[in-house]
Amino acid sequence: MDRFIFVLGSNWQLALAELDNYLKYSQHKGKIIDYSANIAVVEFEELHKKQYYINDLMEIQFTLGGCQKIGKIFNFIDIQTILNAFPFNIEKYKEVERTRKEIINIIDKLLIGKEQIFPKIYESMFYCISIYPNLYDDEYYPKVLVKHFLPFLNKSLMEILKEKGATKALYYKYPEKNLKSGNLNPIFPHVVIKYDLLTENRAEIIFGFTEEGVYVARTFTVDNPNFKKKIDEERPYKEFKSSIPPKLALIMLNFLNLFENREHMKILDPFLGNGTIMLFALVQDFQIYGSDIDEIKVKNSKRNFNWLLEELEEDVPLFVNERIFIANVEEISTRFEKNFFDGICTEPELGPFFLEKPYYLQAKEIIYTKLEPLYNRFFRESYKLLKDTGRICFIAPIISTMDGSDIQLNIEKIAMENGFSQVPVIDSNRFFNKSNPKLHFLKNPHKALIDAKKGQVIKRKIFVFEKKS
Ligand SMILES: C[S@@+](CC[C@H](N)C(=O)[O-])C[C@H]1O[C@@H](n2cnc3c(N)ncnc32)[C@H](O)[C@@H]1O
Repeated sequence: MDRFIFVLGSNWQLALAELDNYLKYSQHKGKIIDYSANIAVVEFEELHKKQYYINDLMEIQFTLGGCQKIGKIFNFIDIQTILNAFPFNIEKYKEVERTRKEIINIIDKLLIGKEQIFPKIYESMFYCISIYPNLYDDEYYPKVLVKHFLPFLNKSLMEILKEKGATKALYYKYPEKNLKSGNLNPIFPHVVIKYDLLTENRAEIIFGFTEEGVYVARTFTVDNPNFKKKIDEERPYKEFKSSIPPKLALIMLNFLNLFENREHMKILDPFLGNGTIMLFALVQDFQIYGSDIDEIKVKNSKRNFNWLLEELEEDVPLFVNERIFIANVEEISTRFEKNFFDGICTEPELGPFFLEKPYYLQAKEIIYTKLEPLYNRFFRESYKLLKDTGRICFIAPIISTMDGSDIQLNIEKIAMENGFSQVPVIDSNRFFNKSNPKLHFLKNPHKALIDAKKGQVIKRKIFVFEKKS
């Protein structure tokens, strides 16, 4: 059975949750059979049987917000073999020598051939080794994998390729200072594109670790970060302090579970801001609608949509003026027929932009007097607007206060009172437990996940709810 490696984005839990949800509900059914904080190993039910499944992988890559790269797995080496060949301290030289030879033999077999990493030997060949550890803060990564395993792989592969007839075999050289310190990131997607590593005689070869061992894969598709960056940074209006990151916007759209016929799916963002979520929804082919109470925001968003439509070389349809409008969320259901929308995806008001942590009472007051009534009305209106079993994916704030506490709304209660049931973001039944507690999903069912940088005063918490029918 063919297996595929998915390299996860920096918020790996959110990326795993998105991928698992996709594999459960989209037409590309499958299962995550192993994972770490950097990769997921996927078995599809049908996809691999198609002759041109690479097109499907490209479509999956385009859809997912939390996936950096997708590769095909060619083999697996169990963790004991790796630890015997590359121990922290070498004591048993013979064992090291024997197991290293074993690893070279495995690689030798998967390198060249019709169904292998390189389809045949070329005169000139180039490769980049990317090692993804189980967790970046495992000591084994900087001390052993970067310092010993990577040079071993670079050298062994070069020798094998030359032995098999390549006159020139070169590899990607990571900066010396990163190699020395062990503080090394495998190459980013744009580097894969820059070095042409998706062509036949050039490849990125991934060694993706989990607790079980290492999966050896070749990269088949990568995220195109330039396109997302362009929308995020070059649109006429942006506000970095309040805009949601593009990847998060895509992940949220996927939690709506609207994977088929997106061009017929009507979705709404009633707290539009500068339009980030709906700009990405437009790229993903949805029928988009958006509103905001702030006249200036609506004007700016309209400009952003017109700019994007021109970039996409689409005729500028009239919809921008009809579907993007000023409205208070409290009265938004009066603008549409009942059950008009297939999904709602939004980032409501999160409270003031704090440069420093507020006092506990200050945060409580914002949460209870300002945000709670607003979120209540948002759910009330959403119930009228959504089709039965339609989903809302949205963000609610967690405010960190001076005294070290985190204050948040009781979203579950607000949602329940308005006819919604919560959908856990991670279905823990679909994951088996890992021994490292940092990789646990099963102990605390992850009903909602957080997206935040260290020290951020307002953290974003991502929730999914379904309208009860
Ligand atoms: C956190 S921002 C959304 C930012 C957006 N995700 C983006 O990337 O630009 C929240 C938005 O909600 C709007 N808002 C606040 N109260 C509202 C209300 N009662 N009805 C509609 N919009 C409201 C604000 O004007 C603001 O643009």
